[in-house]
Amino acid sequence: MTNLSIAVFASGSGSNLQALIDAIKARSISGRVNAVISNNSSAFALKRAENEHIAAYHISSKRYPDPTALLAELESILYGHSINLIVLAGYMKLLPIEIVRCYKGRIINIHPALLPKFGGKGMYGINVHKAVIESGERYSGATVHFVDEVYDNGAILVQRTVPVLPDDTPELLAARVLEIEHQILPQAVSLFL
Ligand code: GRF
Repeated sequence: MTNLSIAVFASGSGSNLQALIDAIKARSISGRVNAVISNNSSAFALKRAENEHIAAYHISSKRYPDPTALLAELESILYGHSINLIVLAGYMKLLPIEIVRCYKGRIINIHPALLPKFGGKGMYGINVHKAVIESGERYSGATVHFVDEVYDNGAILVQRTVPVLPDDTPELLAARVLEIEHQILPQAVSLFL
């Protein structure tokens, strides 16, 4: 694969999206983020996409109450941009199963903990870091993994640890983990290439 066409799905700030865009520019990864899709119309990720002249789409079940229409819209975006890698970067919705099947082996997700620990139902956002601190773990970290039909389950592509410090709050730990997310997401895309 020589020229990767990437779609990023993000629901929030999109700092991982930005890290990927910046890394592609700086390291000349042979590819481009060609579409950013969010279920949240006010996601800063959409704004970041506009700033970078990347096509930005708000696709939600509110806008598309019929799941078939929503799927058709997503497919038209993905096919329209000839997407060959989907990156889930803080996307708070499940992708339609049809997309997961169709893009098998070509969807990656970033998770703010060391999977398989602290993954699965309810393990998103600050909840993850609260659970890590409450469990008394000495290390946390971030994981980029392939997405399959089971939540937070697919093969791991890259993982890196950070220490959990004695006085950590979930917010402090989240910030430490986010820093390494920004490093390992571009690494994972390079590995995918
Ligand atoms: C990251 O911690 C990511 O691992 C999680 O959601 C957060 C998204 O942050 N799934 P951002 O929107 O990339 O800034």
